[in-house]
Amino acid sequence: HETYGFVVVSNRLPVDHTLDENGELKWEHSPGGLVTALEPVMRANDGAWVGWAGQPDLEVEPFENEGINIVPVPLSAEEVQRYYEGFSNDTLWPLYHDVISAPTYHRVWWEAYVKVNRRFAERAASVSEQGAVVWVQDYQLQLVPKMLRELRPDLTIGFFNHIPFPPLGIFSQLPWRESVLEGLLGADVIGFQRADDASNFSRSVRHLLGYATTRPYIDVPVDDDTASVSPVPVPSHERRGRRVRRVLAKQFPISIDSRGYEELARDPAIQARAREIREGLGNPKTVILGVDRLDYTKGIRHRMKAFGELLADGRLSVEDATLVQVASPSRERVEAYMDLRDEIELTVGRINGDYATMSHTAISYHHHGYPREEMVALYLAADIMLVTALRDGMNLVAKEYVAVRHDNDGVLILSEFAGAADELRSALLVNPHDIASLKNTIMRAIEMPRRDRVTRMRALRRRVLDNDVAKWSASFLRALSEVRPGHRIAA
Ligand code: G6P
Repeated sequence: HETYGFVVVSNRLPVDHTLDENGELKWEHSPGGLVTALEPVMRANDGAWVGWAGQPDLEVEPFENEGINIVPVPLSAEEVQRYYEGFSNDTLWPLYHDVISAPTYHRVWWEAYVKVNRRFAERAASVSEQGAVVWVQDYQLQLVPKMLRELRPDLTIGFFNHIPFPPLGIFSQLPWRESVLEGLLGADVIGFQRADDASNFSRSVRHLLGYATTRPYIDVPVDDDTASVSPVPVPSHERRGRRVRRVLAKQFPISIDSRGYEELARDPAIQARAREIREGLGNPKTVILGVDRLDYTKGIRHRMKAFGELLADGRLSVEDATLVQVASPSRERVEAYMDLRDEIELTVGRINGDYATMSHTAISYHHHGYPREEMVALYLAADIMLVTALRDGMNLVAKEYVAVRHDNDGVLILSEFAGAADELRSALLVNPHDIASLKNTIMRAIEMPRRDRVTRMRALRRRVLDNDVAKWSASFLRALSEVRPGHRIAA
């Protein structure tokens, strides 16, 4: 069958598998940020996307969807439970987010993770042409780089971790920590969101594997067997008498399609919708907005506690301010997510029960995802965007809000624990654990004079518009071609 010169591998495919009006299965393009970034590169290089279709037991042949070659990887119901819900989202996810929720370690989950990673690696190997570039995405697939290199030493392999990489003291809990590090080190370039993530990784490699690191490089000992079977010479050199392969590990902060968001925000229909949203809320003086997947890393409880206390203290009334919280359903079969939902919905009910009036609600809560157009209208309607993540790889919602505000107005309150805080220094940065300071920051945002809002938003917009997702993927692919010259990818 067909092979490709550029292959992206991610747990989820950029298409959704849905039922149409007649109950027939059909594929729908899901235009996430990563797809937008990689689409042009895919087209220029005849690329393919390898991933899971999001439903158990679905065996589908490769096909084309809106110009992208899709290569589905099937997962059984048991694999979804052990590899995806279990190891990915109940072991790695909490472990990599500062153990906010306690990770569960199950040997059968690990076995499924190894088995499924091998299937992804084999699928990627079978669709990659000689000397192709393969870019593996995220924590669900950390073993794929090494497996792929063993199958196909001719490939140039990149890996990007979209979530944080934890400090050594936390990462060390993982019973399979050495295998995960070795898995990642199969790549030529390992990308992280923040400089801290890259240095956490290097430190773990040094301490747990004993490999030499000279930031941003890691020297991985090569056994001469793998090197010699490669038709393309594996770049390596001697280090203290040992042959090593040099791996680059550094930060490549991800971004969004900034211009795309800005353009939507200039659409008069979307602006009219923004006004309608405010009216629907009873025209409160201030609209505060939170937008997250319903996940315990997002600090949704902390933000509700702060807002609830401001109402209780009488520093705010429901006519002064409404908190709109969009919490999109996520990983609903994982217990920690079910518990969180119960807790949040109880809190929303209590706060509304105590403070809402017949004309004004305190928290307008939405357990849905919305189309991009509606999100842009919401961002335009919001005076304050409240991002209180306890730990977050990047947080693209913060960047979306900024990209949309072409009026240079609006205040971004941003957690220090989100990767975005490294770049968005002109936001009001907060420690979400410090409820007193969070309350004061919300009041400061409400009372901030327009002149100050504009100064801050202008600075934020420069960052987000200059550094969009196309620049992100281009700089990652450039690094890949520098580490391993000779591959033929047009970034
Ligand atoms: C995070 C991860 C992604 C993941 C997304 C949605 O952003 O970094 O890899 O796809 O959450 O989660 P889900 O489990 O639904 O794919």
